Amino acid sequence: ADGDSVPVLVIGTGYGGSVAALRLAEAGVDVHMAEMGQSWDTPGPDGNVFANTTEPDYRSFWLRTRTKQPLSNFLGFPLDKDVPLHTGILDAEDFAGITVYQGRGVGGGSLVNGGMAVTPRRENFPSVLPSVDANEMYSVYYPRANSGLGTADVDPAWWESADCYQYARVGRKHAERSGFPFVFVPNVYDWAYMKQEAEGSVPRSALAGEVLYGNNHGKKTLRQTYLARAEATGRVTVSPLHRVTDVRPAEGGGYTVSLDQLTSTGTVAATKTVTAARVFFAAGSVGTSKLLTRLKATGALPRLNSEIGKGWGDNGNVMCGRANHMWDPTGKLQSAMPTAGIDNWSAGGAFAEVAPLPTGIETYASFYLSITRTPHRAAFTWNAAANRVDLDWQRSWKQTSIDAARTIFDKINAKEGTIYRTDLFGANKIWGDHLTYHPLGGAVLDQATDNYGRLHGHSGLYVIDGALIPGCATVNPFVTITALAERNIERIITADLRR
Ligand code: FDA
Repeated sequence: ADGDSVPVLVIGTGYGGSVAALRLAEAGVDVHMAEMGQSWDTPGPDGNVFANTTEPDYRSFWLRTRTKQPLSNFLGFPLDKDVPLHTGILDAEDFAGITVYQGRGVGGGSLVNGGMAVTPRRENFPSVLPSVDANEMYSVYYPRANSGLGTADVDPAWWESADCYQYARVGRKHAERSGFPFVFVPNVYDWAYMKQEAEGSVPRSALAGEVLYGNNHGKKTLRQTYLARAEATGRVTVSPLHRVTDVRPAEGGGYTVSLDQLTSTGTVAATKTVTAARVFFAAGSVGTSKLLTRLKATGALPRLNSEIGKGWGDNGNVMCGRANHMWDPTGKLQSAMPTAGIDNWSAGGAFAEVAPLPTGIETYASFYLSITRTPHRAAFTWNAAANRVDLDWQRSWKQTSIDAARTIFDKINAKEGTIYRTDLFGANKIWGDHLTYHPLGGAVLDQATDNYGRLHGHSGLYVIDGALIPGCATVNPFVTITALAERNIERIITADLRR
């Protein structure tokens, strides 16, 4: 409530924020979490909490009047449509050169993501987090994160025969025929539930294409894992629809935090201030970077260093589809939870997730989200005239990622005698090069912060989310974000809170 004083305020309820809240609460510290999105615990008029993927509605997008679907077109038809303005679940946040997709609500990105829980190959880890001890990460923190997240492998025998993974088996066949390693990746989806979906004994979620606008069943989001455990301690409270707007040193120590309480159409219902001894920035790479960039530039937190806002990357994301021959149907039933990727990282700098295209009809299309090695890093800057934070990413930088992805798909196309789809991202456009699902960086570990996420310049302020990772995780990022948060919070609790 307005005027309250709390030991710890966590900004955001995604991976980093949830880890911090659980571990602090277990250590006996009371934690309050502020989340700008909704709580997502109440069914809509159709009886479901989340909207269907093929019929986005008011629940689907964060404060937009028209959808902005990642796949904008299909067979020449634009897919976007008008929706009522609402604090929906998926934010397609536009910057000059890139649209950054993010989850909004209690659970952050875990509400909208594909659940792929991938640990980077160990030899690639030094490029992901150069200042972090890999031995500790692979022996302690990655296992701890995967256990906390409920990561599990798909049953291989079931996968081999399931109709809903026909598309992935076609992906494997084409990868292997061209000599690329095809690797299974774990997921946080409840596999037992998915088997029941396939048998028809429970309501379908992954098998109804649910992912981007939330899963009504089956997916273990942070709501079922870290946040459930955090709330069970009795020490963690969460305020949904509360957006943090300001953090500044309070007289007498700690920080004064200002919040806007939002209505479901995004207007400000009330403004509040609370005092917090410590503040954890866990608003996601973009959210944390935007806040810190503005707070430094406008003088609220003047002693933050000049690394704030820097080192931001898109995890090299680029999407494409391939048109298969008639003898390689990918299936009209496709599980929305990916299970595998094509690993050409060492030779070509690309790891391609074999992604679903759950349209409900046979498309003969293979669809991929590639994560690629890219040298390009952008910076957030304060634009005082426009009263906003800008990002200087350039669309042309994606060419490096396209070239890396082509090391896989040009070869497969040549081997199979197939071509790229040109209808998924607009007329005659092969590459989805306008977006990222994996924003990383902006308050980089050991640069803007010390080697455990303590911000330089103001004691008691921490970054504990994807903003710490300098732009590329070599694979899908949430396991690494979670593991790094586990590592950092352990040190912070021992060194800063148990003195
Ligand atoms: P995260 O973004 O999760 O949480 C930040 C939270 O802070 C949000 O809930 C936000 O609303 C809130 N917030 C922001 N500003 C605020 C403010 N000022 N005040 C209060 N609250 C604020 N990764 C992966 O490993 N495997 C996968 O399969 C996928 N798939 C995928 C699909 C799609 C469609 C998307 C968009 C993303 C993925 N990802 C993914 C990426 C993954 O979801 C992402 O990397 C993590 O959610 C990032 O975790 P963080 O803790 O950094 O922030």
